[in-house]
Amino acid sequence: MKTVLLTGGLGFIGSHIAVNLIESDYKVIIADDLSNSKIETLDKIEKITGKSPIFYQVDVCERKLLEKTFSENRIDSVVHLAGYKSVAESTQEPIKYYRNNLISTLTVLEEMQKYKIAQFVFSSSATVYGSENPVPYKEDMKIGNCTNPYGHTKLISEEIARDVAKANPYISVMMLRYFNPVGAHSSGLIGEEPQGEPSNLMPYICKVASGEYEYLSVFGNDYPTKDGTGVRDYIHVEDLAEGHVKALEYLKNNPGSHIFNLGTGQGYSVLEILEAFEKANNVKISYRIEPRRPGDLSEFYADPSKANEVLDWRAERTVEDMCRDSWNYVLTNSKTDKF
Ligand code: UD1
Repeated sequence: MKTVLLTGGLGFIGSHIAVNLIESDYKVIIADDLSNSKIETLDKIEKITGKSPIFYQVDVCERKLLEKTFSENRIDSVVHLAGYKSVAESTQEPIKYYRNNLISTLTVLEEMQKYKIAQFVFSSSATVYGSENPVPYKEDMKIGNCTNPYGHTKLISEEIARDVAKANPYISVMMLRYFNPVGAHSSGLIGEEPQGEPSNLMPYICKVASGEYEYLSVFGNDYPTKDGTGVRDYIHVEDLAEGHVKALEYLKNNPGSHIFNLGTGQGYSVLEILEAFEKANNVKISYRIEPRRPGDLSEFYADPSKANEVLDWRAERTVEDMCRDSWNYVLTNSKTDKF
């Protein structure tokens, strides 16, 4: 049985990856500082899979503390997700983002070098494609010109990982460029729980559906898109998690540096998502058209053909699945009996 260290493994995406890895017969070690996740998620992972990951509460920037995870276990691969992820916050507090997201990547790679760990999978983002590429985005496009510091931390982390692989031929690295992850585990046990007011679309829609907010602000209806609202490539988090298992399998036999888009290849507008959510869940979502949100792109979606062909991975779940599972998570975890 191979052992994977999963940093940020109790977060929204990390917890789904943990489930998938365990179900694919990996031994999972989670390093997470609980800064944007909850310890209860560990029990939920166990409830879904019947197995509990080994857990270290650790800030992966703290080298001495992170080292314990390497010295106490025989790790085969690292899947690195730990990092801050709010685009808006990154524009207000760039140093916090650069410090945390870059030092965490450096520290993890440094420990990997020290313990001669062969495989590194990095949680990157479509945001690295910047604002000037035509859609659909392909892995060989020029990257850069990100619209925010969060995006730059992903871009720079990719470069760091590539350089480390070049200098250490026994280390192979894979950048997985996520598009817009939404949805939740079909059990309703794990899902997305943003702290404070959500900035992403699906969590905000859920809060309107639950009555916490009166309406959704639709940021702009004058984009050159099918209905004027922003278009994105929403991907179910369970599909995304499955991509990581495929990534690890591929890295075993393919040294070097690799990049793959994880998206569906389909773009949906804000209004299409709204409509799909209403239909899937039989609820009404009030909305108001508001001005564009600064930094937003009009539309982007993946060309996922490389991952489809090379990794034998494909996003299978529909937008209806994404809307149903996102809402199911809210219903399952609601503390009131309002619904
Ligand atoms: C952003 C980041 C991406 C990051 C992702 C996290 C950029 C270019 N992209 O994606 O790097 O990984 O967040 O999931 O910075 N919208 C509304 N009303 C709302 C919220 C959103 O109309 O209340 C619209 C947006 O204008 C956009 C779409 O919904 O058209 C999706 O927005 P969001 O969920 O915030 O994700 P992105 O901005 O695409």
